[in-house]
Amino acid sequence: MIPHTLPEGPKLNIGCGPVQPPGWIHIDGSNRAFLASRLWPLDKFMVAVGAFPPTEFGRHMYYHNLFKPLPFAPGTVAAIYAGELWEHFEYDDSDKLTARCFSALAPGGVLRVCVPDGPHLFGEYLEKLEQQRALPRERRDPKPLHGMMHSFFKDICTKPAGFKSMGHYHKWSFDEIQLIDMFERAGFRNVDRMKYHESRIPGVEAVERSDFLIVEGVKPR
Ligand SMILES: C[S@@+](CC[C@H](N)C(=O)[O-])C[C@H]1O[C@@H](n2cnc3c(N)ncnc32)[C@H](O)[C@@H]1O
Repeated sequence: MIPHTLPEGPKLNIGCGPVQPPGWIHIDGSNRAFLASRLWPLDKFMVAVGAFPPTEFGRHMYYHNLFKPLPFAPGTVAAIYAGELWEHFEYDDSDKLTARCFSALAPGGVLRVCVPDGPHLFGEYLEKLEQQRALPRERRDPKPLHGMMHSFFKDICTKPAGFKSMGHYHKWSFDEIQLIDMFERAGFRNVDRMKYHESRIPGVEAVERSDFLIVEGVKPR
């Protein structure tokens, strides 16, 4: 834990998905979050008849589309965590979301964002490419390269049909240079790439599930 005194206010877990430990306010804009939080009797019925699988979403959380300003008065939030969310926005939209988080946070408040590490993925691709290029032509195999591109374009970056369509595909790939720049342009200071679970936000271990590219910044006091 990095020594830091958070201001008064709630800790938000935005784009929470199924990660909903106590001590945080959980916010998600998926269709299922809407059904389970706003039309919960219908959702419970659908689960009871086996039409839908059980869900962590429910009345305890906020259904909210993060394309809109956060549902908190400016300067009232202590900390915001977002795990694997920023990459689900176009670059300009994640820029706006970063600015909205800055506005919602109180001075001294902390934003922490975890995203897939673009260079890691592309590095793996280049490694596979070099392995194939090192082989004599007749022994080269395009399948590992094709497999990676298929997974990137067809699984990760393609909008799934129907009910799962809200935000379940990637629209950008980040590296620490782009993400740190985005934080700094929004006004955050002390912006750094962070280690997994190393944070100014107490209790971050409960919401942080992935050891990817993690960046944290502080709204100046
Ligand atoms: C990959 S999941 C991440 C879940 C969890 N935070 C984690 O770290 O495993 C992304 C979540 O962001 C939510 N999401 C995507 N776009 C959103 C938007 N515009 N407004 C609100 N939630 C959104 C999705 O519904 C989904 O639950």
